[in-house]
Amino acid sequence: MTALNDLVRPDRYPRSSRYDPAWLVGLDMGPHPLWLLEDLARDLDLRPGMRVLDLGSGKGATSVFLAREYGVEVVAADWWIPAEDAAAVFAEAGVADRVTAVRTEAHVLPFEPESFDAIVSIDAFEYFGTADGYLPYLVRFLRPGGQLGIATPAMTREVRELGAIPAHIKRVVGWEALAWHTPEWWRFQWEITELVEVTSARLQQDAWRDWLLWTRACAEQRPEGPGADQPVIDMLTEDGGAYLSFALVTARKK
Ligand SMILES: C[S@@+](CC[C@H](N)C(=O)[O-])C[C@H]1O[C@@H](n2cnc3c(N)ncnc32)[C@H](O)[C@@H]1O
Repeated sequence: MTALNDLVRPDRYPRSSRYDPAWLVGLDMGPHPLWLLEDLARDLDLRPGMRVLDLGSGKGATSVFLAREYGVEVVAADWWIPAEDAAAVFAEAGVADRVTAVRTEAHVLPFEPESFDAIVSIDAFEYFGTADGYLPYLVRFLRPGGQLGIATPAMTREVRELGAIPAHIKRVVGWEALAWHTPEWWRFQWEITELVEVTSARLQQDAWRDWLLWTRACAEQRPEGPGADQPVIDMLTEDGGAYLSFALVTARKK
């Protein structure tokens, strides 16, 4: 048994388990993106033919999954990854006719107002989505009744409430943990705008354990050795779910 085998879990993630774990790990940019998306999608209503923005799509695994699993048309928007690189992943996966790669920064999206039925964002919103003005900016791209869903690293309690970032987390991610808000924080932040109705806001069950399984599999597969992954493995092991999790938050535009 290798750690890669731990990434096939049809009982909990039946759709994700149909994807080659080596392919997924080869596109690694953070905790298992398909597990996060498959779980988030349980709180969304994605239907064939919908036009979906995958915001912060990285190397594209989630966009492939959206197109294949839900039959939606996807715009894969990302800032760090060149559109040509993502487009090559879509072509190889046979979804180039349904997924378009766009390189863009999340505050200057080059889209028409009300042009999407849904916007999803997997492990990316923490980089650009916590400012008070961001939700109002983003929902202009959703049609009325359109859906928004994010999966983003979370803590079980607000740093503000704790008074400090727990040492084992600060050692690895530093101030970036300030953006790892609780589901309740997201619910209030979005609902207070009166622009959306929050339809669910929850912690992913055992998210820290899923994250650990993923990081161990990545560590095992890296030709250069597991060095870069060890601090994350240590952080998650020490945490044991006390603070670290993922928030899955969904909403509908009014
Ligand atoms: C941790 S990676 C996750 C990528 C992918 N969703 C996944 O789960 O594999 C975070 C992504 O957020 C994107 N990102 C970060 N800041 C951004 C910004 N300001 N505008 C657009 N995308 C951004 C990066 O380009 C990166 O691909």
